Amino acid sequence: MYDFKPATPLPPAELYRDLVSAADALTADEPDGIANMANVAALLWEFLPDLNWAGFYRVAPAKSGADDELVLGPFVGRPACIRIPFGRGVCGAAAQSGVTQCVADVHAFPGHIACDAASQSELVVPVRRGDTVIALIDLDSPTPARFAAEDAAGIEALAALLATRI
Ligand code: SME
Repeated sequence: MYDFKPATPLPPAELYRDLVSAADALTADEPDGIANMANVAALLWEFLPDLNWAGFYRVAPAKSGADDELVLGPFVGRPACIRIPFGRGVCGAAAQSGVTQCVADVHAFPGHIACDAASQSELVVPVRRGDTVIALIDLDSPTPARFAAEDAAGIEALAALLATRI
C-alpha cells in the first residue's frame, strides 16, 4: 500500500518538498508516462488542500494531424475539456508561452475555459523537456486566489522532476 498523504498540515516549502520526493519515489523505476502522470495526479490531490481539479494536459497531434494541441491526460476531478488549441484559455497560454500561469480569478482571464463551474482560480505549469513544452500540470481551486508564488515554485520543481518521466 502506498500512503503518502501528509499527516499534518505543513508549511508550503515542506509540503512541496515532500510532494516532489513522493513523486520521485513513485516514478523513478517506471518508464510508462501515463502510469506516472496518473499517480502524480493522485498525489497532487492527496497533498494539496482546496482543489477541485488536478492533472495533466499533454502536447499531442491534433485530430486533423495538423499542428500540435493540448490533449487531456490523467487527472482527478470532473470530466474536462479534451482538446485545447495552443493560445486558448489558461492552459493554452501556458503551452504557447512556456511560462507558468498563476490566475487569481479565472473569470477575468481572457478565453478561460470553464470545465467545472466551481473553479475560481488556477495554476498551470509547463513541463519542459529541453526547450520543448511536452505537457502541463493544471490545478484548479474553488477558492479565489488559492495559488501563491510558493505554489508555483513547488509545482515547477515537480515539473522539472517529471520532464523525463512522462
Ligand atoms: N480552465 C482551463 C481548462 C482546463 S480545466 O481547468 C481542467 C483553461 O482555461 O485552459
